Amino acid sequence: MPQTDTVQAIRWENKQLQLLDQRLLPHKTVYLEFNEVAVVAEAIRDMVVRGAPAIGITAAYGIVLAARMRFAESSADWKRLIEVDLQTLAQSRPTAVNLFWAIARMREVITGLQGDPEPVLLAEAKKIHSDDIAACHRMGELGAALIEQPCAILTHCNAGALATGGYGTALGVVRAGFATGKITHVYADETRPWMQGARLTAWEMVQENIPVTLQVEGAAAYLMQQGRVDWVIVGSDRIAANGDVANKIGTYGLAILARYHGVKFMVAAPASTVDMNIVRGEDIPIEQRSPEEVLSWTGRFIAATGATAWNPAFDVTPAELVDVIVTERGAILAPNAGKMAAMMEST
Ligand code: MRU
Repeated sequence: MPQTDTVQAIRWENKQLQLLDQRLLPHKTVYLEFNEVAVVAEAIRDMVVRGAPAIGITAAYGIVLAARMRFAESSADWKRLIEVDLQTLAQSRPTAVNLFWAIARMREVITGLQGDPEPVLLAEAKKIHSDDIAACHRMGELGAALIEQPCAILTHCNAGALATGGYGTALGVVRAGFATGKITHVYADETRPWMQGARLTAWEMVQENIPVTLQVEGAAAYLMQQGRVDWVIVGSDRIAANGDVANKIGTYGLAILARYHGVKFMVAAPASTVDMNIVRGEDIPIEQRSPEEVLSWTGRFIAATGATAWNPAFDVTPAELVDVIVTERGAILAPNAGKMAAMMEST
C-alpha cells in the first residue's frame, strides 16, 4: 500500500478497497469495505470519499474490482463488459477531472492487457496513488517557498490528506509551511453545506497541532479587512487550459476579496487536475447537488417550508484573480494559457 505519514482516506487491504467514511468525521473513524465497482461509484457520489485527487485514486481501485469481476464472468469478453463499469464511475461526479483522468489512464492499460488483468491494474492504481502522495509533498515544498514571511492563511473546503492520496494539496502547503515557520496559523471556512472545513480541515490540523480557527464563510471579508491573513490557499477540482480554476463553491468570492484587500491567492493542485481540453473556465461542468443539502441539517429541515435552494458544489475563479498555481511540476505566477501549456509540456 502506498505510504503516507498522514491520515489515509483510501486503503487497499485484503484484496479490498477500503474508504474512510468522511461523512462521519470527525466523530467516528470508520472504514467501509468495497468489492463492487457500482458501490464504489455510489460512495463517490454520496461523499464517502471526496476531493479531486482522492476521487481519481478511488476510481482507479474501483476499476481493479471491476476487472476482477468481469474477468471471472468472461475471460474472453471482459474488456467489452468493463466499459459499462467505466461509464458508471464516470457518471458519479462531474467536476473533478481527476476522475476522468484516472479512468482514461486505467483504460489505456486495459487496452494492452492479456491474461488476468488484476495484478497489472492493481499496480497501476497503486502507482496513481503513490504518485499523488509524492506530488503533494512537492507542491508543499514549492508552495511554502513562495511565502515570504511568517503569516496566517485562509483556506476553504478540505484540500488535505483526506482529499488526496495523503498529505494534501493546499494543506500540503500548510504542512510544509508550518514545518518551516512560514505559516503560523490557519483560518478555515466552515464550508457549507457539507462542512468540509469544520469537520475535515479542522480535524486534520488539530491532529498535527497546527493552530486552526474556524469561521463562517461570511467572515472572510472582515478577516481580510483586519489584515489577519497574507494568503488564501486552496485546492482545485479542475483547472482549464487558460488557468481558470474550479473549486468548492465560495472560492471565487474569496479570490475577489483577496484581490481587493491585497491578499495573495494560491491554488495548489497536481497536473492531473489540469484539463487542457477545456479552453476556459466557463466550459467546466459544475455539479449541482440536491437542494436538501442546503435546506436541511443532519437530517432535519431548517429552512422555511416552501423555500427552494440552489446548490452548486463548485464555482470558477478566473485566472486573472489567481496569483499562483502550484503543481508538482512547478509554480506558475500570474497563470495564463501560454504558461499552462509550457508547464503541461514539461515533465
Ligand atoms: O465536494 P468536495 O468535498 O469533493 O470538494 C472538494 C474541493 O472542492 C477541494 O478543494 C478540491 O477537490 C481539491 S482537493 C485536493
